[in-house]
Amino acid sequence: KVLVVDYGSQYTQLIARVVRELGYYSQVVQYDEQVDLEDVQAVILSGGPASVYEEDAPKLPDWFEKYEGKVLGICYGMQLVAHSLGGKVEPGEKAEYGRTTIRLIEDDPIFFGVEKETTVWMSHGDHVKVLPKGFKVLAKSTDEIIAAATDGKRYWLLQFHPEVRHTLRGREILHNFLSKICNLKPNWNLEDFVSKKIEELRETLAGKKVIAALSGGVDSSVACVLTHKAIGENLLNVFVDHGFLRKGEENEVPKVFKEMLGLNLVKINARKRFLEKLRGVSDPERKRKIIGEEFIRVFEKQAQQHGATHLVQGTIYSDVIESAKSGKKTAAIKSHHNVGGLPERMNLQIVEPLRNLFKDEVRLVGEILGIPRQILYRHPFPGPGLAVRILGEVTEEKLEILKEADRIFIETLKETGWYEKVWQAFCVLLPVRSVGVRGDKRAYDYVLALRAVDSTEGMTADWSKIPHEVLDLAARRILNSVKGIGRVVYDISSKPPATIEWE
Ligand code: XMP
Repeated sequence: KVLVVDYGSQYTQLIARVVRELGYYSQVVQYDEQVDLEDVQAVILSGGPASVYEEDAPKLPDWFEKYEGKVLGICYGMQLVAHSLGGKVEPGEKAEYGRTTIRLIEDDPIFFGVEKETTVWMSHGDHVKVLPKGFKVLAKSTDEIIAAATDGKRYWLLQFHPEVRHTLRGREILHNFLSKICNLKPNWNLEDFVSKKIEELRETLAGKKVIAALSGGVDSSVACVLTHKAIGENLLNVFVDHGFLRKGEENEVPKVFKEMLGLNLVKINARKRFLEKLRGVSDPERKRKIIGEEFIRVFEKQAQQHGATHLVQGTIYSDVIESAKSGKKTAAIKSHHNVGGLPERMNLQIVEPLRNLFKDEVRLVGEILGIPRQILYRHPFPGPGLAVRILGEVTEEKLEILKEADRIFIETLKETGWYEKVWQAFCVLLPVRSVGVRGDKRAYDYVLALRAVDSTEGMTADWSKIPHEVLDLAARRILNSVKGIGRVVYDISSKPPATIEWE
């Protein structure tokens, strides 16, 4: 495998993803993490925000001396190698950020097939001023900064970021490093992953009773179908209809997973219970907590009846990397849909068949398993569902209003081709009424907010620049047909400082 050592660059995960897309299995480790070197075939040191000459700057990993293979250093990774071998790293007069042209000076396999002048993406303050002994310059940028260097034996160093799309030949450069310098053959493909994983699950879960909460979200869906292929009926999938799902979903999800894909699925209609528990509650955190606890209660009963000893969770690789970064041992549990708290309470062992996959790989695995696209490419949805999109107290009447408005907004986006262009879109029902006029009468109805954002993984988000015509169409349709809504507004707040959801 290819080890990607993380020094805190925003692009670390991207390096690992591109390496996988090129057909080589990659794994991200923190620079201060212990590593088993047995099947490590190449090492890539990432960029990072530190300066190598600062006192607490991150160092080369402890295991680095023991590792005998080739090393690619990118940005901070380049500076770290140069610095630790006796070269000189300096702050630049000005930071180099964005597209730059580099000029190749020497032939080297890493630039095989790359033009003598090519565009790359730079993002650095420091640079290597003097190379260690035995190194030669391979390329320089227009500012005469060393853009690439090697000792021709163990180290290849790049000041720019080959993993970023703006580096025109970035993929070729990474591919050259892996195939021509490390002599690796591509060996990572998802069909193999699927068949091996099914085999592995079949062995480890033989004769066991396993349970899963299936929400219809991408990760849990793929995890459940994969496990189902391995152990069939021994996996019980529990679909809890808490009443806060999008319109029609309580029927669609069982239809896809039970009827179409043959999963052993029970649907629990718990609408009344949840609504009752929420009566009179308007504090967002309390709402979330109540829903989470109630969910566990419902789920626990099923787990006991089934005699479950194992619980399937849809943890994916970015969760694993993020929690490793923050120093926690296991992946953070994002919501009650991952039934946090239950494993300890019931002494369940956790099964995480997707913990080594990136989100786009999870979707591709879903396609291989025959899960329909409308499930795999659906926008993210919070565990507590529409309950956190009705600000204040949740009532049945408000739920009906919101479900219908949301359906119309989403359908309008789909019709106009905007559903796939935005990362997430939904409606929020506000607890305020506003004056209007309907026919000749004064009206006094709720305000609805439309929300759509562009994001990667939900950590930060920009409000989506949906054309006015599309917003206009959605607003007209909603105002014309949803009783109870008298005004529609569009949320133009980005995250930070706003969050994506309103509660
Ligand atoms: P925020 O509102 O924190 O949302 O900016 C970021 C992303 O997370 C989703 N979200 C949740 N997902 N359980 C989930 O599984 C939750 O309790 C939850 N709360 C927010 C939100 O929809 C957005 O995609």
